[in-house]
Amino acid sequence: MQKKILVIYYSQTGQLGDILSNLCKPLADAGHDIDNVRVEPETAYPFPWTGKSFFAVMPDCVKSVPTKLKPFQLKHNRYDLVILGYQAWFLSPSIPCNSILQEPAVRNVLQNTPVVTITGARNMWISAMERIKVSLKEADAKLVGSMALVDKHANFVSFITIFHWMFKGKKDRYLNIFPKPGVADADIAHCRVYGATVLQHLEKENRDGLQDELIAQKAIEVKYNLMFIESKARKIFAVWAGIIVKKKNRTPWLVAFKYYLIIALFIAAPIILTVDAIFFKPFLSGRIKRQKQQYSGVN
Ligand SMILES: Cc1cc2nc3c(=O)[nH]c(=O)nc-3n(C[C@H](O)[C@H](O)[C@H](O)COP(=O)(O)O)c2cc1C
Repeated sequence: MQKKILVIYYSQTGQLGDILSNLCKPLADAGHDIDNVRVEPETAYPFPWTGKSFFAVMPDCVKSVPTKLKPFQLKHNRYDLVILGYQAWFLSPSIPCNSILQEPAVRNVLQNTPVVTITGARNMWISAMERIKVSLKEADAKLVGSMALVDKHANFVSFITIFHWMFKGKKDRYLNIFPKPGVADADIAHCRVYGATVLQHLEKENRDGLQDELIAQKAIEVKYNLMFIESKARKIFAVWAGIIVKKKNRTPWLVAFKYYLIIALFIAAPIILTVDAIFFKPFLSGRIKRQKQQYSGVN
């Protein structure tokens, strides 16, 4: 029987759009009715970004302040599956994604509906996804699958290359030395495999075990070092955002945050990770395993 599927997302550069079209290819080929909704904010975010505009969105991301979206139509009142594409901005759901989740029409279709989420991130998506889990729960949606596509290069390499991409507007190799930024083309194309898994479960009307299968296919993987850095950084970002929103002139504070970020990533993180690897990590294997299960799971 033909199923109704809502695919809803925002994508600034089109990367998440490419990920979703590959994911949905098997569903479309099987003849299901796909309502593809790419949402746009009423005031577009600049692309390429400037340093100032990029850091200026941090407080609203962290504080979940929504933006006004351009009106959009959903074809149906009920769907058999909702596929939500999201991206992390400053370890939070991006402002447009957060805004999608606050739209009454979207909340209405989410109620009692199975949801699959997918992100195309640099490499730090855990905190954003945990917040999306809360929003989905508040909307009475049933999260049944979750996937995370990332830039698999070293953390400091992807940090440099994403800024090249975001500030120059081109997903190409910085100085012809660094690798291409973002999610690799092969990983984007590979999403069809995950789409086939989603299709199988959708047609069997049995979503139990979908996430276990996606985990086995490595559609989502939690890396310890990144999980560790994110767990510390999200608390510190909340403190920065709390301070910055109270300031009349945010500019010097956002500049200070930018330098904090660079120092934290290139100097503090390697030191803290080394201390952790020697004194803590070896004694916390049970806790680490539970955290990885929680973050890659759908509960
Ligand atoms: C303002 C901003 C902040 C970002 N912060 C993060 C982040 O915290 N973690 C992460 O993995 N990626 C981060 N990214 C990368 C995005 O998640 C995403 O991969 C990229 O913007 C491309 O997505 P698109 O499909 O919207 O073009 C950030 C991007 C932007 C523009």
